Amino acid sequence: MSNIVDSIRENIIRQSKIYEEKNGYNYYENHIKYVVKNALELAEKYGADIEVVELGALLHDSAAVYEYGPIEEHNVYGEKLADKMLSDLNYDETKKELVKKCVLNHRSSTKLNRNTIEEKCVADADVIAHFDRIPDLFSLAYHDRGMTILEGANYVKGKLERDFNKLSDESKVLLKDRYENIMKVLFN
Ligand SMILES: [Fe+2]
Ligand SMILES: [Fe+2]
Repeated sequence: MSNIVDSIRENIIRQSKIYEEKNGYNYYENHIKYVVKNALELAEKYGADIEVVELGALLHDSAAVYEYGPIEEHNVYGEKLADKMLSDLNYDETKKELVKKCVLNHRSSTKLNRNTIEEKCVADADVIAHFDRIPDLFSLAYHDRGMTILEGANYVKGKLERDFNKLSDESKVLLKDRYENIMKVLFN
């Protein structure tokens, strides 16, 4: 594990605690660490640069964690933050550009802009992380949004269907069994 990755991880964990004190949600514990885990698994399978993928996963939602810029553009602002943080650590220029692309193009709206395998790993892992945290989706529906049982079930079902469709074709193949099992157990 490189010092750069350790340093960026510590930074994101620290800032996630600051965000949690203000907003009651810990980005690292509830989301980012799952994205990292899934991204590293995909990086192994697809032969991507492991370090670039881990940094991309750690930094993909950094603008949200830092509350830097509007949340709708957190990929754009996250790219700026990634540039600053990695430059401060004197990270390799070529790899830095690859990490920045992972952050910029992690959202489904940027799917067509992805050109590298590392971008695909981070973007797909971001989606797969939702499959690791299904109770969060129900909590959002029933607790936060006060939906009825049926409304909540339809909401979660629709969300998981849309998520699955956001994956790259390769990752759809990898996730197919798990996705179908989840849907069968929850909504059959
Ligand atoms: Fe995001
Ligand atoms: Fe994310």
